[in-house]
Amino acid sequence: MKTIKPPLVLYNALKKSRLSGSSIGFVPTMGALHAGHISLIRQARQENAIIVVSIFVNPAQFGPKEDLKKYPRPLNKDLALCRKERVDFVFLPSIKDIYSEDFSTYVSVEKLSGVLCGIARPGHFRGVATIVTKLLNIIQPDVIYLGQKDAQQAIIIKKMARDLNIPVKVKIMPTVRQSDGLALSSRNAYLDKKERLDALVLSKALSLAKLLVNSGAKSPLRIISRMKQLISRKKNARIDYIAIVDAASLKPVRKISGECLIALAVRIGRTRLIDNIIVRV
Ligand code: PAJ
Repeated sequence: MKTIKPPLVLYNALKKSRLSGSSIGFVPTMGALHAGHISLIRQARQENAIIVVSIFVNPAQFGPKEDLKKYPRPLNKDLALCRKERVDFVFLPSIKDIYSEDFSTYVSVEKLSGVLCGIARPGHFRGVATIVTKLLNIIQPDVIYLGQKDAQQAIIIKKMARDLNIPVKVKIMPTVRQSDGLALSSRNAYLDKKERLDALVLSKALSLAKLLVNSGAKSPLRIISRMKQLISRKKNARIDYIAIVDAASLKPVRKISGECLIALAVRIGRTRLIDNIIVRV
């Protein structure tokens, strides 16, 4: 396993593989790797000759009041995990390598970035789309692996690749959960014991929604209201949004049909958590 910092060094190291036709799989991360990240890495390992994992806590996707400074950075542990998973290249760019002092070019995926998480986090998806474009330009992978856990992000990246003719296949892998249902997230590390228990309310609300859909419920408003009721029983929980939208356009649906994304963001204490499911009717 090679760890590489300068973008050009990685670009050149991958050139030979690219020319010889070896497929390159890429998993972008911000580190603090957990079983969700590992599932993406394993899928990439299975399907490609060469795999690249990037670890970069991207300042451009954090708002001024967000957790950029305290975001966990257990680098040695992350590198050990990557080694164990037989990653070929870990890309660890410095902030200066990515954002020069006079950096001024951003990628914005319109419409899709302004809804759901884009409302409470203005600029977030612009930061995500910009860094992912840069990583795709440096690595030029055949396949990029993303998690369903961040459904809106995955949809935005898929759309961006299509809109900008970036020749990469986007694969979206299922959300990995703890045995009690909590979706794995690097931000779960912020939760204390009580909050960790309260955090279960996200997956419970989604299970309730699924149950209602399976038993024939068609009205998003009614389903959302039942989810709200359930969440409001937890004093520590503050709903940011609950939405039932078309799984491709992210537009609200009037009636449950086809493929719907049920997504929510809830603050547990000071920690903002997200989760989602897709229901098919
Ligand atoms: P990060 O939060 O580190 O997540 C990296 C990848 O892991 C994302 O594609 C995310 O959806 C996936 N992931 C996270 N938790 C998961 C879970 N429980 N199950 C399955 N996959 C999971 O997302 C980012 O970083 C950044 O925005 C990034 C794309 C790297 C751009 O900076």
